[in-house]
Amino acid sequence: MKETVMLSDSIDDIKKAAELIKNGCVVGIPTETVYGLGAAALDSKAVKKIFEAKGRPSDNPLIVHIHDIKQAEKLANNIPELFYKLADKFWPGPLTMIVPKNDIVPNETSGGLDTVGIRMPSHPVMRELIRLSVPIAAPSANRSGYPSPTKASHVMNDMNGRIEAVIDGGDSRFGVESTVICFDDDKTVRILRPGSVTKEMLSEIAGNVIVDEAILNDLAEDRKAPSPGMKYKHYSPKADVKIVKGDIDSFCRYADSLNSEKLFCIVFDSDNTESLHAETLTFGDSGEQIAHNLFAKLRECDDMGAETVLVRSPEMDGVGLAVYNRLLRAAAFEVIEL
Ligand code: TXA
Ligand code: MG
Repeated sequence: MKETVMLSDSIDDIKKAAELIKNGCVVGIPTETVYGLGAAALDSKAVKKIFEAKGRPSDNPLIVHIHDIKQAEKLANNIPELFYKLADKFWPGPLTMIVPKNDIVPNETSGGLDTVGIRMPSHPVMRELIRLSVPIAAPSANRSGYPSPTKASHVMNDMNGRIEAVIDGGDSRFGVESTVICFDDDKTVRILRPGSVTKEMLSEIAGNVIVDEAILNDLAEDRKAPSPGMKYKHYSPKADVKIVKGDIDSFCRYADSLNSEKLFCIVFDSDNTESLHAETLTFGDSGEQIAHNLFAKLRECDDMGAETVLVRSPEMDGVGLAVYNRLLRAAAFEVIEL
């Protein structure tokens, strides 16, 4: 395929992108979570192109992005009351809800499942794009397995020549993918992937919120994945990532003891790293800051030729749970306790 075109977030360029989507092409799209690879959700041929561009296994379903709640009602049936309450509170925003799908949603989009994940994104460019086109199926715009893109340049890096265009809508605000939930019963939601809509926030609306065990553990071998994405390798840069638990002094001593030249460290802004000899990057202090920066920092380490990346372990409350979940997978569950 020819070079991928970089579009701006002007209304003329959004119109161009809407035409491309309606014509069955794949476009890199900005959202408030991460960049996506978008195509017309109900067009099975267009959706197949997403899987090809990404190198994604065909049984891993895509989220369908909508502009208004009426579109959700066309895609899904047996929508529980709780879905509407959560939509009222958190949409548009970084929450994906899984519900039984209608026949109009092709198997290609749902990965062969009889459910569909639906999200109403809040990024103004994305909202306008859906309004001018159709519901858009979109996974994160990384090559399968690699950290999600949070800048248009990341998408270009992974997808140049593989998709028609990318819209540059600025850096993704949240930086981790949406919270994915399903409904165990009328009052109970199960978090399949943590995100910026946190367990604490969901608990204000839902009677009962379960954090699925696969979020902090490798999927048990005898357990069927409630979300197909759980079984695949994820978020991994080329470098070998390790999570390091302990205080900053032990961290510095440990890093220096490795005596490795291509070692990079990612630490908190407030850490004192004077004694550290390895190349050091910072990713913020709060869960929100770290979520915003994490994937970009992992990509930077790769760009600078890192072989090993040591990452300070973040707290696990609030959006920290989402950060820790992504890091665990980037590190293939390798955690060093000092
Ligand atoms: O923030 C986001 O969610 C981004 C932006 C682009 O919207 N999208 C995204 O999509 O992260 P993706 O495909 O990279 O991750 C979606 C996850 C996958 O792990 C997939 O298995 C799961 O959601 N999923 C989607 N539909 C599902 C369904 N019907 N049942 C169970 N899991 C589902
Ligand atoms: Mg993804």
